[in-house]
Amino acid sequence: MSRILLINIKKLLQIRSLDTSYVSGKEMDELPFIESAYLLINNDIIEEFGEMKNSPKNLEKFRVIDCKEKMVLPSWCDSHSHIVFSGNRSNEFIDRIKGLSYNEIANNGGGILNSVDILRNTSKEDLLKQSTIRVKEVINQGTGAIEIKSGYGLNMESEKKMLEVISEIKKQNNITVKATFLGAHAFPREFTDNKREYIDLIVNKMMPQYNEARLIDFVDVFCEKGYFDIKQSERVLSKAKELGIRAKIHVNQFNSFGGIKLALKYEALSVDHLEVLTNEDLTNLKNGSTIPVALPTCSYFLGINYAPARKIIDSGLPLAIASDYNPGSSPSGNMNFVVSTACIKMKLTSEEAINAATINGAYAMGISDKVGSITKGKIANLIITKDINSINEIPYSFGSGKISEVILAGKIIN
Ligand code: NIG
Ligand code: FE
Repeated sequence: MSRILLINIKKLLQIRSLDTSYVSGKEMDELPFIESAYLLINNDIIEEFGEMKNSPKNLEKFRVIDCKEKMVLPSWCDSHSHIVFSGNRSNEFIDRIKGLSYNEIANNGGGILNSVDILRNTSKEDLLKQSTIRVKEVINQGTGAIEIKSGYGLNMESEKKMLEVISEIKKQNNITVKATFLGAHAFPREFTDNKREYIDLIVNKMMPQYNEARLIDFVDVFCEKGYFDIKQSERVLSKAKELGIRAKIHVNQFNSFGGIKLALKYEALSVDHLEVLTNEDLTNLKNGSTIPVALPTCSYFLGINYAPARKIIDSGLPLAIASDYNPGSSPSGNMNFVVSTACIKMKLTSEEAINAATINGAYAMGISDKVGSITKGKIANLIITKDINSINEIPYSFGSGKISEVILAGKIIN
């Protein structure tokens, strides 16, 4: 049966009209809801919802799920991930525990280039297999839409392999996927002494070809000292603009040196990381239309500063939060833990964290007209919680999770 009816929902959370594409500042502390509600799904779409007293009466027409004592909210929208990778870097994890920093490990020949070596030697089939296991894992943890970056290939063939795997993931699963080209993630070893040539390769060959093959939705750059400086980043962003592709940028993870200004100049969709944010950066962001994205579990895992999320929201800006799922700085894509960490470490309220991980995450992927809220006509991507009395129990139960079922594009997953 293609129509599913959820009844007796204790609280139906995050109800928005279609014209709310994101929420900012004080609005982030509000999560509109209906108490004692129903919700009707038709195929993959939210058809109708409202108070229980108005629920359809002829139940035999539907597959009915009784949500007594449970709450329902839109699935998590994870706007920043590197979920396609091969192997892992658990050896570096131990090096860090013993005292080395993320950058020291990278400078000793580890880090991103370590994952590049492994990925180049992994077949497309194997890469898809490894990545699909992770995708299924995050689906079960309530993620309904995800952005996935390339950036562990760093040559023509292996970046293409990554992008094709992302495209396969899109086809084979009900999760909504956006693909980001991150050829400018690090300089590959073979270009250490000829950085200009690597940027030439990115802008003259990779970007046009992958764009032509319709493999990319966004372009990203790791704009950071020791990675891509302002000039190098600008070459990539300006090519993206020429091709009509929006940018999403890694900036201010370790240093603030003009990356935000650059992102704003190119009207990037999002600026991500922001662990080091100056007052000038904040002022610049207030004058732009780029959404800040914080990655709390990256800070948790690396033991670095958290992005000043309170300051960002209190200054009236919107904020999204994402997992940054990757083998080096956040080897987990569990958005429940991201939401908990945003509350516990960044001092967001439950409402703010849920807004940041749903509607604002959707906006940071350019899909807030399709996912991220309970809205008629949006994709039926839903989380059904376990029995809970307050939404605060969602971030509060860190590490265990309060999800009982997940619905993705109208299909019951678990
Ligand atoms: O977002 N900062 C750059 N890229 C990733 C880490 C990638 C890696 O270490 O493999 C990040 O943290
Ligand atoms: Fe990242």
